[in-house]
Amino acid sequence: MIRKTDYGYCAEGKKAYLHIQFFSDSIVRFAYTKNNILPESTPAVIGQSKNIEALVDGNYIKTQNLKIKIDSEDLKVSVFDSEDNLLSRDLSVDIDNIKVEKELLWEKGFYGLGEKYGWINKKGTQTENYNSDVLGAHPLHNPTIKEYHTSIPFYIGLDKDKAYGIYFDNSYRTYFDFGKEKDKVVQFSADGGHIDYYFIYDKKVSEIVKGYSEITGTMPLPRKEFLGFQQCRWSYMNREELMEIAKRMRKENIPCDVLYLDIDYMENYKVFTVDSEKFNEFKEMVKELKEMGFKIVVIIDPGVKKEKGYYVYEEGLKNDYYIKDSDGLVYVGEVWPGAAVFPDFLRSEVRKWWGELHKGLLEDGVEGIWNDMNEPSDFSTESKVVPEDIVHVDDEGRERKHAEIHNMYGMLEAIATYEGLRELQPNKRPFVLTRGTFAGTQRYAAHWTGDNTSLWEHMESSMPMFMNLGLSGYTFIGSDVGGFAEDSNGELLARWTQLGAFTPLFRNHSMKGTINQEPWCFGEEVLDNTRKYIKLRYKFITYLYNLMRESSKEGHPVMRPLFYHYQGDERTYNINDQFLFGENIMICPIVRPGMDARMVYLPEGDWYDYWTGEKIEGGRYIIKEAAIDTLPIFIKAGAIIPQDEVVEYIGQKENTKLDLHYYVGDNGEYTLYFDDGRTFDYEKGIYSEIKLNVEENDGKITVKSEVLKDEYKIPELVLHIHGIEEFKSIDVDNGNTPVEKGDVISIDICKPEFKVVIEK
Ligand code: GLC
Repeated sequence: MIRKTDYGYCAEGKKAYLHIQFFSDSIVRFAYTKNNILPESTPAVIGQSKNIEALVDGNYIKTQNLKIKIDSEDLKVSVFDSEDNLLSRDLSVDIDNIKVEKELLWEKGFYGLGEKYGWINKKGTQTENYNSDVLGAHPLHNPTIKEYHTSIPFYIGLDKDKAYGIYFDNSYRTYFDFGKEKDKVVQFSADGGHIDYYFIYDKKVSEIVKGYSEITGTMPLPRKEFLGFQQCRWSYMNREELMEIAKRMRKENIPCDVLYLDIDYMENYKVFTVDSEKFNEFKEMVKELKEMGFKIVVIIDPGVKKEKGYYVYEEGLKNDYYIKDSDGLVYVGEVWPGAAVFPDFLRSEVRKWWGELHKGLLEDGVEGIWNDMNEPSDFSTESKVVPEDIVHVDDEGRERKHAEIHNMYGMLEAIATYEGLRELQPNKRPFVLTRGTFAGTQRYAAHWTGDNTSLWEHMESSMPMFMNLGLSGYTFIGSDVGGFAEDSNGELLARWTQLGAFTPLFRNHSMKGTINQEPWCFGEEVLDNTRKYIKLRYKFITYLYNLMRESSKEGHPVMRPLFYHYQGDERTYNINDQFLFGENIMICPIVRPGMDARMVYLPEGDWYDYWTGEKIEGGRYIIKEAAIDTLPIFIKAGAIIPQDEVVEYIGQKENTKLDLHYYVGDNGEYTLYFDDGRTFDYEKGIYSEIKLNVEENDGKITVKSEVLKDEYKIPELVLHIHGIEEFKSIDVDNGNTPVEKGDVISIDICKPEFKVVIEK
């Protein structure tokens, strides 16, 4: 019944075919069709199937790690691990209604699904994926609203000793139910397309995320400068206002790398134009800001103003680049410029055109592009997005309904932008920020979680949202710090900045008509507090950049739920209000007004209070005092954490020295990565990597280093050792020196110099 094919295997049931492809011994694709043809994947999928020799035995097909049983009539599958433990079992596969029901077996939690409001664990809940202009469609986000700006049809089932991921490769509106409608049943379905999904298995949840990124790709290594603090506002209305913000940042000694221009920089909201009255001598202004260390990012929405004589509109019209209604007429919706038409980004020719349109902005010195309203948003409809019966045409000339393309529209625009920037500036890493995303968009753009509100609840709910986005392959993420809609206030801004300092994208942004919320808007105390945390962010740039590098290689997120590293500890499965920033730093924001203490869960092992250096035993809840200027941060014993010198903007000074902090208690291992932070030269091997090992045993410290690659300059490294009661000696790459507290020892283990400081 199961036969080998050129792409993998195929099982023929009573009414349908099940196509099976292996992507590894633990990753398998199940695609159901009524005909005998393997369905097309969405653009999310870039993984290549492997020619894995599976063993077919009657109704079973086996790889090294999986055993799959296929029901010969209705093609239901059951999946077992190599020791015959049941991992997943279908209850029904409904090809007509594109719906799968699986038994809810052992899963203690369900996670993923990108940007969703609500608690991190989705067990017992339902959700849907349909890209939406949330604030346009609803006055306020809350957990009853299922549609957000992103659609990532991927979820993870979790237990202590096992986990799996299911990526449902379907771009139509999709539905997920984790035991809400029917007890013990997990369901997923779609409004169109095929049942086509990937089952990813491993004992460890981190390997599931890695496996998912093998299918949908990872984030490219970003420009280091975009890890700095970013300031935005709808809008800085003219040159004077923008320059004022820039000067004030420097005057107040607030590190800042990026300033944004929202829609008002354009002439009547016409994309690829600049209003030369409000922003006279635009190029010169951008240059002046650059000299002060600021990178300018401008917004580009997909809606093109319908205006006779406007070059973008006319070019697209002439070349038939816009989406059409069912009568074959160019579809006219409504966005900021009023009547607007929408490019058909499904076609490569249109994407290429759009990419090239950025030439002028780049020549003016613009350094990044912000793609917004790309769900795509449309004020003229009740749903506030482009209607489903609108027609796209693909590269083969086939007509495709918007219902199928809708969730991918934002991603297709991001592809056009990313590839356009790369084409125009081949050796500069593009910075693209997008609101609408689909699975795989991490390959092209950073994402912010759209229009939140200046509410404590929205700050709190951003954390589970970030963690689930991270588990869904999205690393370069952040939310509008201080809140977008409604007026912010000093306390909220101070606390939100503390959290924002530990999100990969760190951007303060607010809505037109609300009060300003730059760091200085709420008095001296708030200014001091926000400055303190923006500066703290700059201390962690190397650490964050190293995490981004790891993510770009293996897909691991920067913001991780506790169970990412403590899967054996069930208490971590429902922790929403603290997260790991990489493996070894625990961030525990205060998310309620007036609070000056909070509960913190420290998993097993020893932890250090970052501020006091106090060593605390984990495996329990503790209460941590946290006055308004304190963000509780804990470092895991054994960690090696780089800390940078604080600068006004990244690249202001050459990094000649880097401090590393080792927290005694466990053997430390850390790999440091250095490159130019801006170009693609690292792809040609122009980077350095050093692996460090530090061990402490009865007061004796052993430091080992291994230079794995040495093609980019390595700064002087200074290792600070924290948390030892009594020192005896230090052993560096086999040389032995007796030491005491307060000693500074120079040791020659890597270029140009390496020092160890024994902290008092
Ligand atoms: C949307 C964006 C917001 C932006 C505004 C005006 O609401 O989400 O960030 O400021 O449009 O462009």
